[in-house]
Amino acid sequence: MARAIADDFSEVQADSPVLEYSLVTTPVEDARCQCVAVPVAGEQTLSEGVWRLDEKIGGPLRQLAARGQLPAEPGDVLQVPVFGHPSIETVIAVGTGVPAERTADVFARVAEAAIDAIVAAGVRTAALYISDIDVIERDDYWRVRQAVVTADTKCYRFRREALPRALENVFISGSEGSKEALEHGIAMAAAMRLTRSLADTPPNVCTPSYLADVAIGIGRRFVSVSTSVIEEQQMEQLGMGAILSVGRGSCEPSKLLVLTYSGARSEDPPIVLIGKGITFDTGGNSIKPLSGMKRMKYDMCGAASTLAAVAAAARLDLPLNVVGVAACAENMPGATATRPGDVVSSLSGKSVEIINPDAEGRLVLCDALTYVQRFGPAAVIDIATLTSASLVALGRSHSALMANDQELADALSRAGESALDRAWQLPLPAVERKQLASSFADLRNIGDGTAACIVAGMFLAEFAESYSWAHLDVSNTAKLHGEDVGATGRPTMLLLEYLLDRAGKDYDIHA
Ligand code: BES
Ligand code: MN
Ligand code: ZN
Repeated sequence: MARAIADDFSEVQADSPVLEYSLVTTPVEDARCQCVAVPVAGEQTLSEGVWRLDEKIGGPLRQLAARGQLPAEPGDVLQVPVFGHPSIETVIAVGTGVPAERTADVFARVAEAAIDAIVAAGVRTAALYISDIDVIERDDYWRVRQAVVTADTKCYRFRREALPRALENVFISGSEGSKEALEHGIAMAAAMRLTRSLADTPPNVCTPSYLADVAIGIGRRFVSVSTSVIEEQQMEQLGMGAILSVGRGSCEPSKLLVLTYSGARSEDPPIVLIGKGITFDTGGNSIKPLSGMKRMKYDMCGAASTLAAVAAAARLDLPLNVVGVAACAENMPGATATRPGDVVSSLSGKSVEIINPDAEGRLVLCDALTYVQRFGPAAVIDIATLTSASLVALGRSHSALMANDQELADALSRAGESALDRAWQLPLPAVERKQLASSFADLRNIGDGTAACIVAGMFLAEFAESYSWAHLDVSNTAKLHGEDVGATGRPTMLLLEYLLDRAGKDYDIHA
């Protein structure tokens, strides 16, 4: 049953593009596809190239400009039907606002509006001529890359049958030098799609074993990636009592997935990503009410981002070593599940009193954090839908970031800012450490409820003392909230931007 459903789901083909993207270097007046989206820069202002295009299509834009009817505000669009041109059927005028106010976020909004209008036009081929407009503090590379990612993100649908039907080819305007930006955009878009489709896959299908299959698939697909799966029996032998305690109530066996991407010399220390992969979080014997439980299939978003980031690193041949670890389990209640008060022994040797079996993410992560010491990592970043407190503290805009190394925290903040997938750093103040003191073990798994996002980070920090480490709590950003449903793909863009930064960005693709 599960397999039959899975075969219908799009993540099976999730890393092949929904749309085909190519770079178009010909000037806008020579555009030759069904639909051309052109920027209107502020008050009825068109570029010289667009004026020449306008002449070729009979001057509709000039007349609209004369009446002051071109869209001006970012996000405003106007679809103009074209008659008598050999290939162009529609021109979409896209408001981009005035240059002085054209921030990266404004550009993203403009790109979204443009792609929505293109989809609505029902065309098969479209050219986006917006990547050449100036954007504050962003270069050409960024604009081309962002145009691809935005277009693809907008066209993602979990169900294949719901994909925008007509659109197949999107041409993005750019210089010859933008080839790399296009490649990066396509790889990032594919990673976002993989992240989202894994996360959106229902929890009766997307189990730890299913994620293991995906990880093995990534290892088969890229010669530079090898995947190994640590099964429960081996966890037992290693002494991973913390992760084992989480899956104990479930019929689905827990799995620790380890993907090794080798893009640099073998002696180069790797960047390690660790994703929380709770494929469903009922709360265990501290069972959640339906209101809190119904979206808990998304509790594996960290693992999804990790798998997608490793695959993207391999696809781009980044000159780095990256290890991706996904700590996967299903948190179910029942007679065999952990009780409040149970004490387990983690791989680190530290014992943990499990006061609340619903604070399970830190339990699967702590064993993974200890496990990755063996790689001698340059940096370890864990990604987890860890606490509801992150939404209370930060809302939807910024993931929560904590770290034991300020340079790493700064690098991640910058990457998030650049990729429009932002994170905000929270402190790890020593005074809160006493919340984790236990009378029966070295640590307890929850605090007193205050600073819950920070206390969860402090629990993890106890297991990350021997290397440079950062923690991203993405409960608030990895999925939509309220009436809206679906995975956002975050923080995959942040992670990839960070990896690209580490790789130095300018290297030969397909070297
Ligand atoms: N997976 C949840 C965190 C979560 C909550 C993610 C809401 C997305 C949306 C996590 O395992 C959990 O249950 N956290 C508890 C911890 C508490 C028991 C200390 C929480 O934050 O409520
Ligand atoms: Mn939980
Ligand atoms: Zn959870």
